Amino acid sequence: MDKVTVTIDGITLEVPSNYTVLQACREAGIDIPTLCYAEVINEIGSCRLCVVEVDGVRNLPASCIYPVQNGMNIRTNTPRVREARRVNLELILSNHDRSCLTCIRNTKCELQDLAERFGITDIEFQGENVNYPLDDASPAIVRNPNKCVLCRRCIAECQEVQNVFAIGAVNRGFDTLVSAPFYVSLNDSPCISCGQCITACPTGALYEKDHIQRVYRALADKRKHVVVQTAPAVRVA
Ligand code: FES
Repeated sequence: MDKVTVTIDGITLEVPSNYTVLQACREAGIDIPTLCYAEVINEIGSCRLCVVEVDGVRNLPASCIYPVQNGMNIRTNTPRVREARRVNLELILSNHDRSCLTCIRNTKCELQDLAERFGITDIEFQGENVNYPLDDASPAIVRNPNKCVLCRRCIAECQEVQNVFAIGAVNRGFDTLVSAPFYVSLNDSPCISCGQCITACPTGALYEKDHIQRVYRALADKRKHVVVQTAPAVRVA
């Protein structure tokens, strides 16, 4: 593979010519925040949290989809970059159901982690919020569109990896919704309850149905019970 030379925050390094700026930054040990990015399967540049400054480029390109070029000079931590990432994150949060304390993903949520990392305690932007009903008809998976950040990682997992095509994006702009085809419930979709969409989701927009966890707990308890009942008494003569 051909190599190109790039400079990132003053560090000059050689990277393969098919790398993105994000890959080059990671190779240089520079941490770039990401939300929508999932290597290979979801490189769509939609959240804009990974923006960087590149000499000669007027806008701030999304590093996860921007290819490296020989001689490129990249800056990842300028006031302009930090401000853009912060505004983009606040805009995502402004249309997010922020009932975090009662959310199943509380303390395990990528969006929450990012908000903490950026020190966001207040949302400046107030506007219309989506308000969709919970889809909990499936026996295994609950879908809460009000916590969805439209990163599409679940869609990539369902379509590109699992080849199931149970969910996709419908509508455009503010009305964009991750849903089963024709807005039907997951229960009426081709969903096979593999749960891979849950592992891909960065927030609490998709989660396991509670009763499944209760069933597992009950089975575990039953196993414990059986072991106690059937264990032979050992008598030491
Ligand atoms: Fe690059 Fe979302 S991670 S645009």
